[in-house]
Amino acid sequence: MQSRLSIFRNIAPRLTRGQGTKANLAPSQASDFVFKREDKYGAQNYAPIPVAISKGEGVFVWDVDGKRYYDFLSAYSAVNQGHCHPKIVKALQQQASKLTLTSRAFYNDVLGEYEEYVTELFGYDRVLPMNTGVEGGETACKLARKWAYNVKNIPKNQAKIVFAANNFWGRTLAAVSSSTDPSAYNHYGPYMPGFEIVPYNDVNALEKVTNDPNVCAFMVEPIQGEAGVVVPDPGYLKSVRDICTKNNVLFIADEVQTGLSRTGKRLCVDHESVRPDIVILGKALSGGLYPISAVLCDDEIMLTIRPGEHGSTYGGNPLACKVAIAALEVLEEEKLAENAEKLGHILRDELGKLDKSIVTTVRGKGMLNAIVIKETQDVNAWKVCLRLRDNGLLCKPTHEDIIRFAPPLTMTEEQLEECVHIISDAIMSFS
Ligand SMILES: Cc1ncc(COP(=O)(O)O)c(C=O)c1O
Repeated sequence: MQSRLSIFRNIAPRLTRGQGTKANLAPSQASDFVFKREDKYGAQNYAPIPVAISKGEGVFVWDVDGKRYYDFLSAYSAVNQGHCHPKIVKALQQQASKLTLTSRAFYNDVLGEYEEYVTELFGYDRVLPMNTGVEGGETACKLARKWAYNVKNIPKNQAKIVFAANNFWGRTLAAVSSSTDPSAYNHYGPYMPGFEIVPYNDVNALEKVTNDPNVCAFMVEPIQGEAGVVVPDPGYLKSVRDICTKNNVLFIADEVQTGLSRTGKRLCVDHESVRPDIVILGKALSGGLYPISAVLCDDEIMLTIRPGEHGSTYGGNPLACKVAIAALEVLEEEKLAENAEKLGHILRDELGKLDKSIVTTVRGKGMLNAIVIKETQDVNAWKVCLRLRDNGLLCKPTHEDIIRFAPPLTMTEEQLEECVHIISDAIMSFS
């Protein structure tokens, strides 16, 4: 990351404040201008694929030069409904000119409508609205600790929450405290106490750790997205449910990336018909228009938090609520889970035909998929992503050798066919 950014820095022109991307620049200059300005003024905590996007519609995005791409990342599964979905945009526009934010100091006339809709849809007593996915995770951890002391009667400050190795739930200090990835946690200590790690997809390890009476919760992704779309063995989630029930431990499902139709069901846990005690939603809860997250659970857990004990200025604001209702309705009305399930099978079948000396593994569920690239002197995941970009399809490596494929769920079979051609041409060009 460092070396690529410093190349940009060395060639960056002096930029004037307020200067935009000029229409009269030559195509490559217009993109270069965007790259260099971000590099000059922004924190360097990301290493983007060099493409400067200025427009999105459905499964497509366009760069500042007007070149069209298939979006095969969907903003890490936030844009499940496709870019700028007209129904969600309309909901946002209508509410934006009426009432946007009251804070929770007062009631507003939209929050209850959303709360009723989302709790009925997912079958939980209550919802706690937040903004980003990581705040959803923080909220779930706080609920678990409150429940630990108020219901399970764990001695004060002794509650433990268990996480799976290679988890990812965001970038706050609590989230990185549970991380096993040094690039996420290094030099951010001291870390949150009371967090334990077990290997992912290991029921024996979970059984053992949850025997500890001070363990109050196990928080887990039904498929590990950031770790590289790691799908657990069939039956794992059912076993997690059984073990948590047996040991009086809360099962927290982090469905921020896997939920909301992405894996071919409304929630990924639906594949095994299990009901977690706490569900965390985010990302596609707004279809990419707005940061919206939510935590769902029943009274016994939710009502342990009393007025003044948790909150967020923007959480549950009327604009977010209208956007979330529209985003959820789109998933249901357009049967996007069913489409993800159908297209996922086609995609994995086709990816399985690629040159196995380059693409060693294909995995995923629904439209959350990944390929593993065998690294050689000539090929690596980054180079494949650049070739795909050149050929009109955008994606990004997760870790060194894994490429995630997660397009908007509004994709048609014909569009997927075209994408498969783009991918197979790109892989063939390295053979
Ligand atoms: C499973 C999971 N949980 C939580 C988060 C954090 O979401 P946010 O970036 O909106 O805070 C992510 C983000 O990628 C995620 O994949």
